[in-house]
Amino acid sequence: MSSSNPVLHLLFFFFFFFFSSSILNFCTSQRQTNVITSFSFSNSPWRPTQNRTLISPNSTFAAGFLPLPGSVGLYTFSVWYYNVSSDNVVWSANHRFPVSAAASLIISRSGELRLVNSSADGRNLWPFPAVGSVNGSGLSLLPTGNLVYGNFKSFAIPTDTILPGQHMNETILVSKNGRFRFDSRQLVLIGRNDIYWTNKDNSTFMSFDDRGITYGDNQIYYASDLGVQKLRRLSLDDDGNLRLYSYDMGLKQWVVVWRALFQLCMVHGTCGANAICMFDVLNASTSCVCPPGYRKGVDDSCELKIQIRDLGRSNFLRLEFVNFTGGLNQSDIKTTNFSTCKARCLANPNCLGFMFKYDGSNYCVLQLERMFDGYWSPGTETVMFLRVDESETDVSNFTGMTNLMETTCPVKISLPIPPPESGTTTRNIAIICSLFAAELLSGAYFFWTFLKKYIKYRDMARTFGLEVMPAGGPKRFSYAELKDATNNFSNPIGKGGFGVVYLGKLGDGRVVAVKSLKNITGGDADFWAEVTTIARMHHLNLVRLWGFCAEKGSRILVYEYVPNGSLDQFLFQTVEVGLESSLETAELVGSKSKPILDWNIRYRIALGVARAIAYLHEECLEWVLHCDIKPENILLGDDFCPKVSDFGLAKLKKKEDMISVSRMRGTPGYMAPEWTRPEQITSKADVYSFGLVLLEIVSGSRNFSQLDSKVESDQWFFPRWAFDKVFKEMNVEDILDPRIKHTYDSQEHFDVINRMVKTAMWCLQDRPDTRPSMGKVAKMLEGTIEITEPKKPTIFYLDD
Ligand SMILES: *[C@@H]1O[C@H](CO)[C@@H](O)[C@H](O)[C@H]1NC(C)=O
Ligand SMILES: *[C@@H]1O[C@H](CO)[C@@H](O)[C@H](O)[C@H]1NC(C)=O
Ligand SMILES: *[C@@H]1O[C@H](CO)[C@@H](O)[C@H](O)[C@H]1NC(C)=O
Ligand SMILES: *[C@@H]1O[C@H](CO)[C@@H](O)[C@H](O)[C@H]1NC(C)=O
Ligand SMILES: *[C@@H]1O[C@H](CO)[C@@H](O)[C@H](O)[C@H]1NC(C)=O
Ligand SMILES: *[C@@H]1O[C@H](CO)[C@@H](O)[C@H](O)[C@H]1NC(C)=O
Ligand SMILES: *[C@@H]1O[C@H](CO)[C@@H](O)[C@H](O)[C@H]1NC(C)=O
Ligand SMILES: *[C@@H]1O[C@H](CO)[C@@H](O)[C@H](O)[C@H]1NC(C)=O
Ligand SMILES: *[C@@H]1O[C@H](CO)[C@@H](O)[C@H](O)[C@H]1NC(C)=O
Ligand SMILES: *[C@@H]1O[C@H](CO)[C@@H](O)[C@H](O)[C@H]1NC(C)=O
Ligand SMILES: *[C@@H]1O[C@H](CO)[C@@H](O)[C@H](O)[C@H]1NC(C)=O
Ligand SMILES: *[C@@H]1O[C@H](CO)[C@@H](O)[C@H](O)[C@H]1NC(C)=O
Repeated sequence: MSSSNPVLHLLFFFFFFFFSSSILNFCTSQRQTNVITSFSFSNSPWRPTQNRTLISPNSTFAAGFLPLPGSVGLYTFSVWYYNVSSDNVVWSANHRFPVSAAASLIISRSGELRLVNSSADGRNLWPFPAVGSVNGSGLSLLPTGNLVYGNFKSFAIPTDTILPGQHMNETILVSKNGRFRFDSRQLVLIGRNDIYWTNKDNSTFMSFDDRGITYGDNQIYYASDLGVQKLRRLSLDDDGNLRLYSYDMGLKQWVVVWRALFQLCMVHGTCGANAICMFDVLNASTSCVCPPGYRKGVDDSCELKIQIRDLGRSNFLRLEFVNFTGGLNQSDIKTTNFSTCKARCLANPNCLGFMFKYDGSNYCVLQLERMFDGYWSPGTETVMFLRVDESETDVSNFTGMTNLMETTCPVKISLPIPPPESGTTTRNIAIICSLFAAELLSGAYFFWTFLKKYIKYRDMARTFGLEVMPAGGPKRFSYAELKDATNNFSNPIGKGGFGVVYLGKLGDGRVVAVKSLKNITGGDADFWAEVTTIARMHHLNLVRLWGFCAEKGSRILVYEYVPNGSLDQFLFQTVEVGLESSLETAELVGSKSKPILDWNIRYRIALGVARAIAYLHEECLEWVLHCDIKPENILLGDDFCPKVSDFGLAKLKKKEDMISVSRMRGTPGYMAPEWTRPEQITSKADVYSFGLVLLEIVSGSRNFSQLDSKVESDQWFFPRWAFDKVFKEMNVEDILDPRIKHTYDSQEHFDVINRMVKTAMWCLQDRPDTRPSMGKVAKMLEGTIEITEPKKPTIFYLDD
């Protein structure tokens, strides 16, 4: 029986081998055994249950079967960013036809790559037709994320995402939900074949690189974190917006660095027929509401509550700031006036309403048969008139006006004239305080008066045939006109980073501030586009732009004149050495002694500025960073109503400034730490600057000039010190402006001042993402949200 011995041995050996190898398999990490760099006949088939991952040479990308989110037992064969934990999938072979766990990816002996659902169902699902290998090389992932096999390249058939270096030539992106398409030139709502965004200059989008430069055939876009090498992707998201993302390794999340549309409501198909899309500022989400006279129908659409019985006698409801962009007939029929426009609609049985512009341009658009893609936005200059039955009693609540007019300046108070010689501060304080007593008393009925004033104003405007707002675009002035208005630029009233400001008077009697810009590049068209954008921003706490001049190389802006000068002249009354711009201002304006601002006025200024910047950041159609918030840029109206100036001008500066070292655009002392780092600049940079201004409003002195008076160590930093005062020692009084400290009444003022300082601490967080948005800052100041304790601000100096 010796012959059985070798067999036994063999059996034993076989068993041992099998056992030990499976133990080995079990013990070594899943990654090591299941990570492959090439898939070929030798390791075919590949099943979803195998946990096998194909990775690119430097492990940036991986490919393999992934469970389909939201369904059990279905898989897609996909490519994803290997090191990224969320939203990492960049390509899928079969996301429209997922396969079961019994599926397999096969490379046949003849070198043909196929995906089958199960061995029973041998139909080839992908690639279609099946492709053969070239030179016997396997399926592999290139370092760029391109999955290749023979002649097949995943880059040639993108799904909803493209990667750095990937060319978009003839390809299209389709959002995961299948509703939207990007064909390298425009975004399209697939169902209605409805184009809602076209690339600038009809340019073809080609590719982008890992530093954030996006190339078109005659257009280049820059990401906001331009220049930094990062993991990036350009995706057509399910909400219909096209966004460029970069991955923040620290935060472990994707950050939007460029987007096609700023206002999600501009995406067609967001709401159903007749509905109006509203953009929620606080959480950047959209919602669909029905216009007055309409009620909810099916699928986010709205239907008339009362069918119109007599078309000739229908009523019209006025909806402010509403535009329906997806009607059937969007042709602008030039009518001479409102009544003719209305008559045109009445006469047409298919007319559901009309849009009219009160700017003298005779813009009149009838909405025929259907109304799609309505949205509400303060940037809209048209007014929608909705046709309803004459018995309809609904009142329109789309009165955007009142929301926009919500400012901090409801009651008009006049400026106490500072005594000519002896700037007796106590007297000034007395004047201001008594004014405020009056204001507080009137507070109870202010809303009433405000409303009445508003209605009166509106009616007055109607009589004159023009509306308060929205007005037309900015007026184009000739150089000669402005030369006349400013008496040959003879009366300079200020000088800032963008140029000299002159006082002027227009032919119609309006007093204006004329700002002559320097170092502005770009053609006439660019300038015109930017100026139009700036002029569209209406907020009572923003200085109004009335017009401009672009002639003979000069670039001039014409602003409303704000009589009281800038906040710095009120806050910091001692002459400061070393701050160039304020010295210039002081010199030009003449440092007359100004009254000292009362606590209530200071609070009102803070709130007004916060609301204005929040409006710039969040409510405007274009995404506007101020980039230079400081007391010099906060002007005070004749009733101390704050008005933010110089917004939008950062956009006029050269694009190259953003890349080079001189990309720093703010004023040293008010700039957020991220300006010094190779980091993306977001709206949070403005929040930081506002935090510093807020502290200065409370303390009455410059953050950086306090250094010498209070310095205890070289680690002294005003925000840190203030943080301890308000959160640790609970002693806010030490921070207060010494000049009016004695008027501080802890009962009356504590709440407001405490809120201002605590909000400032949140704004001054080192990391942009921990700072609140400007909208939230305004809410914090208002006291409508609770302010928790933030982290102590870190020391940050920007040596100049
Ligand atoms: C694949 O990995 C997952 C999680 O790591 C595990 O739950 C599953 O059992 C693994 N499947 C196989 C077949 O190894
Ligand atoms: C991966 O490798 C490619 C080429 O070898 C290189 O260009 C790329 O920078 C690498 N990526 C990373 C993240 O290391
Ligand atoms: C992925 O992460 C590992 C460990 O976390 C790291 O060693 C590797 O460099 C990372 N790869 C890339 C491409 O970032
Ligand atoms: C694959 O099979 C599963 C289960 O039978 C099925 O749900 C799925 O639709 C099939 N996929 C395709 C693409 O046929
Ligand atoms: C296939 O092999 C030929 C000859 O060796 C070579 O010229 C060619 O570049 C190879 N093709 C690929 C895709 O590797
Ligand atoms: C796409 O365009 C690039 C650059 O113009 C070109 O090199 C590439 O071959 C094109 N790819 C396809 C698939 O047409
Ligand atoms: C944009 O360009 C494409 C192709 O060059 C052309 O077919 C299309 O008509 C153009 N659209 C506009 C609005 O100019
Ligand atoms: C956004 O806020 C509104 C109310 O302000 C709320 O109804 C809605 O659910 C919020 N949406 C998200 C996505 O948080
Ligand atoms: C309203 O929508 C129409 C149609 O899309 C568009 O042409 C127009 O510019 C919009 N008006 C405003 C003021 O946004
Ligand atoms: C749109 O209105 C214009 C002017 O009233 C008219 O000439 C045109 O036929 C209309 N088009 C449609 C599709 O109704
Ligand atoms: C509007 O224009 C029409 C025709 O041009 C004219 O008959 C009518 O009087 C005008 N209405 C008003 C209110 O000006
Ligand atoms: C108008 O009222 C409706 C129904 O109450 C509401 O859904 C909608 O949000 C309101 N619109 C505005 C602009 O407040």
